[in-house]
Amino acid sequence: MRLVLLGLPGAGKGTQGDQISEKYGIPHISTGSIIREAIAAGADLGQEANGYISKGELIPDELALQVVYERIVQPDCSKGWILDGFPRTVLQARALDQRLAQSGLRVQKAFDIRVTQAEAIERIAKRRMCSRCGAVYHLEHYRAKGKGVCDACGGELYRRSDDTEETARRRLAVYMRQTHPVVHYYAQDGRLFSIDGVRPIDQVFADVDHYLNMLVDEDSVGEAQ
Ligand code: AP5
Ligand code: MG
Repeated sequence: MRLVLLGLPGAGKGTQGDQISEKYGIPHISTGSIIREAIAAGADLGQEANGYISKGELIPDELALQVVYERIVQPDCSKGWILDGFPRTVLQARALDQRLAQSGLRVQKAFDIRVTQAEAIERIAKRRMCSRCGAVYHLEHYRAKGKGVCDACGGELYRRSDDTEETARRRLAVYMRQTHPVVHYYAQDGRLFSIDGVRPIDQVFADVDHYLNMLVDEDSVGEAQ
């Protein structure tokens, strides 16, 4: 299963990516998370990316492509992956298709999780993340049981440095200018599935899962033939 998750900052890509990964046992790959981990570790990638991410700008295409190409050849990706936050430009989308075609593979479905800009800003303002395992919470919709600590691992919850209102608005503008065309890119050949993201997390996942079940059925018919 090779999937792409698109949607405004705060749309719920990370949240849905985790659920798909849990149910289907394929890795959830968030380029944003990989970059944040590299920044925290003081790695070369982090040092190069930090100036862009802190301003809400995209990192250069070559750097994003390098991150993804290195990740999707890891052994845990042999049965597929869920890309979250990649591709973010049409150049990245085309390059990924070309790279996969060399191995006879393709992105099978791209989900566009749709929320309004106002909803996105509200979610980003109230998001909290686990500093240890990266789990995502929301101060109202998806609260941690303990105060300021992660339910799963007990790690301390923090607010992402690019989650200030000013940077979030910049990220939304960047999305509309540079990433929204990617939605059309996948729509052109029927790979795009639009999902209403302004509903409870489980309902959003039920819609995504409906399309994934169709994919599983198609794959098993293909194998039987
Ligand atoms: P990235 O980390 O990908 O950030 P983003 O796209 O801005 O998306 P977010 O992570 O903010 O939101 P999300 O959609 O994952 O929502 P979430 O599930 O957390 O990228 C960060 C930066 O890295 C970029 O700005 C760029 O600089 C760089 N970058 C990354 N990839 C790149 C690339 N390919 N090329 C160039 N640069 C790149 O949910 C949000 C909140 O809402 C949470 O609190 C959650 O609990 C809550 N929530 C989720 N679903 C629901 C629901 N259904 N109802 C109510 N609340 C909900
Ligand atoms: Mg995310």
